[in-house]
Formats: sequence, C-alpha cells, structure tokens
Amino acid sequence: MKKVYIETYGCQMNVNDSEVVLSILEGEGYALTEEMGEADLILANTCSIRDNAEQRVWGRIDRFRLEKKARPGVLVGILGCMAERLGEKLLASGVVDIVAGPDAYRSLPALVAKAAAGTPCLDTTLSRTETYAELVPSRMDKKGVSAYISIMRGRNNVCGYCVGRYARGAERSGEPLSLVREACDLFNRGYKEVSLLGQNVDSYLWKGEDGETVDFADLLEMVAAVSPDLRVRFSTSYPSDITDKVLYTMASHENICRHIHLPVQSGSNAMLEKMRRKYTREWYLERVARIREIMPDCGLTTDVIAGFCGETEEDHKDTLSLMETVVFDSAFMFQYSERPGTLSAKKYEDDVPPKVKTARLNEIIALQGRMSEKSYAAEVGRLHKVLVEGPSKRNPDELCGRAGNYKMCVFPGEGRKTGDYVTVRVVDSTPATLICRIEEQ
Ligand code: SAH
Ligand code: F3S
Repeated sequence: MKKVYIETYGCQMNVNDSEVVLSILEGEGYALTEEMGEADLILANTCSIRDNAEQRVWGRIDRFRLEKKARPGVLVGILGCMAERLGEKLLASGVVDIVAGPDAYRSLPALVAKAAAGTPCLDTTLSRTETYAELVPSRMDKKGVSAYISIMRGRNNVCGYCVGRYARGAERSGEPLSLVREACDLFNRGYKEVSLLGQNVDSYLWKGEDGETVDFADLLEMVAAVSPDLRVRFSTSYPSDITDKVLYTMASHENICRHIHLPVQSGSNAMLEKMRRKYTREWYLERVARIREIMPDCGLTTDVIAGFCGETEEDHKDTLSLMETVVFDSAFMFQYSERPGTLSAKKYEDDVPPKVKTARLNEIIALQGRMSEKSYAAEVGRLHKVLVEGPSKRNPDELCGRAGNYKMCVFPGEGRKTGDYVTVRVVDSTPATLICRIEEQ
C-alpha cells in the first residue's frame, strides 16, 4: 500500500480540506502515515493569510528537498491557499511535483499519476460550484469526539487586507440535506460535536429548485435536530451579517453551543472603513449587546489586527477601548501583514513602522490578557456541561474539555472518559483555563 503524509497549516477549513484530500487518496489505494520518512507522497496543505505563514511552508519545502534527496521517487505536493496564490513559483522550486488549489482536489489522482511519470504539474482552477458535497471526509482526529463540517466554500466579502478571497474563490453554500446527513453519520459513528465551518457562516444561503431557501439559522436548527447529544458549534460569524434569527435559534437549542467568534479587527471606524469591513464600531457594540441580551452566558472571542495602513495612535486607542468595553474571553491578535494583490496593497501604503506595529500588538496582547483573566475569573462558582476531550495536557490524571462557551475546563477524572458529557462546577481560574470539579447530578 502506498503511503501519504499530510501537514496542515492555517484555518479549520484547511483541516477539513485535508480530510477531503485523504478521502480522495484513500480511493486511490493510499493510507495515511504520520512518519514523513515512510511516505511515498508528502503533502502540505498551506495558508497564505500572513507572510510568516508562507515563510514557514517555504522552510518545510527545504526540509522536503532533503527527504527527496535521501529517497528519490518520493513525490511532494503543495495544496491549499499558497498553491492557489503561488502556483508556478512552487513548481519552480525544483522540489514540488504537484500543486493543487482548494477547488482542484478531485484532480489529485491524475496529478499524482502525471508527477509519478516524471512531469511536475499544477491545477489551480477555482470553481463556482465545487463543494465536495458527496465526498465523506476521512477524519484525522483520532479521538473521534469532534469533527468539522464545511458548510460553504469561498467568500464574497472582500476585506481589503485579506488574501482569502483570491485563494478560495467565490462563495458557494452546501446542500443542507447532505450537510445534515454528514452530521447524522458522524453522530452514528460516535462523534459528539460538529463545528460548522464557513468564512462567513451568516451568509450561508441555499436556494432549492422550488424556490425554497435555507439560511444559516435554518441550517443550525436542522443540524441541532440530529440529536440532543450532538453539540453544534460554528465559525466564523461576520458582525454585519449575524442576525437576531441566528441568536434566537442558538438560545432555543440547548445543544447549540453558546459561543460566537466575531472578528472585530479594529475599534476605529476609519480603519474599519479602509479595511472594507461592512460595519462600524457602534454597530459591532450593538451586536454584542444584543448577543448578551438574548444569551447572557454566551462566550465571545475575536480577531484583532494591529497597525493597518495609516493607523494612528488614536485609532489604536479605539481598538483598546473597544476591547475593554466588550471584555472578550480570548482573541487572536496579529500585526498587519501586507499581502500581494489585495485591495489594501493596491490602494494604501503599509506605512506603520514595524516597531510601532509590534508595540501596539504587544499592548493589545497585554490588555487581552487582563480581559481574559477577568472573563475567566467571573466563572468561578458557575456550573458547566463539558464534553470530555481527553486527559489534560498538564496533568494526565485530570481530564479536559470545553464548556459550551468554549472555555477550557480541567477537572479530576473520577472515571469519566473521552466523549462523555460531565457537569462541572468552576472552583478557580487562570486567564485560559477553568479549574473545576465534577458536580454530582
Ligand atoms: N478562515 C477565517 C479567516 C481567516 S483569517 C474565517 O473564517 O474568517 C483569520 C484572521 O487573520 C482574520 O480575522 C484577521 O484578523 C487576520 N488577518 C487576515 N488577513 C490578515 C493580514 N493581511 N494581516 C494580518 N492579519 C490578517
Ligand atoms: Fe489561510 Fe486560506 Fe484559511 S489563507 S486562513 S488557509 S482560507
């Protein structure tokens, strides 16, 4: 049997795409290996979001070069967003035999055959229709508790700074019944949690032939109906598109987890406008207020970019003050990284000096640290229903798992096991973990 080794970079969508790729290759007689040294085919599913994400992969390509030297005949393929963006440049490295963009995975068997016959090759066609709908992804998560379902591909929102639109093509929504079937199938195989993925889940919209439509709230409801013992999560939400209907749907289903990842990017209206985000600071704060009104216990996390083009000290302060007002549970925080070909790169100068970017980012990280501490400390005394993920990393005698609001809980195991639901009470906290004990019910 031939063996394939896959490294995955970037977002959850890429993790799910690697599972689609594995399923396609299994159909060709490949088996997954975790040892690069025994692979016939080495694949990296890549991300282009920031320059350092790409630099990491170039570093890996150097590593693959050594592997090919040691074992001639090994094939190397680059998949995903970087494949889409750099195409020929990757082939020119002399290491890469196969380049396949996110919509081209069905052609992998043909590409591999051609490369094996000695011709490096590429397919970076973007599709308007590809959703890999009927393909059953081969799950790589060995715990068998939680799985991703991509409900849509591509994106239409053009955030000025983001390379995603170019790497992933236009938006397509998956067929709802096929998505529900996928969730059902996972539940029947013992999975307890599904995460519905899309670049902007709030713009999910399926139009049936008879004119019937299914929006994101409808889809959430359909997936939640699979079983009360199947937890439903989703990401990513877009601040101008998240509707009250979605919030009420979440509030009325116990198994839809109360956590929203709502990337804000900046607290300054001037920056938001230049970033082409389609909301204002005031709109964002109103959405947060509405979320908390409908679900006071809802977890809230975000993404922030420091040092976007033309960002002044005043703009930066607006971001800090927004973070202080909202008190996010946690955040992904980045320095602006100019991406070739994006609107921002064409229109604006990347003019915040690197030192200033770093200083602002550090200030943002420090503030978020304090906010996380506050948010986690407020949980002490509360009860949570946790889905056990496995032994805690720090202390193998303890278990860990997430509360509905996405906060990580650790607690003495007392005979519970991976995949169990456990009710715990929070007894202490750190800025990233809730220390709990099992509450007898
Ligand atoms: N797949 C995600 C998008 C990934 S981008 C989704 O579902 O929306 C994740 C975060 O990276 C963005 O929210 C933004 O904060 C950050 N980001 C995107 N482009 C960036 C850039 N050019 N420089 C710095 N950060 C960026
Ligand atoms: Fe990266 Fe592409 Fe996801 S750029 S974040 S892998 S959509």
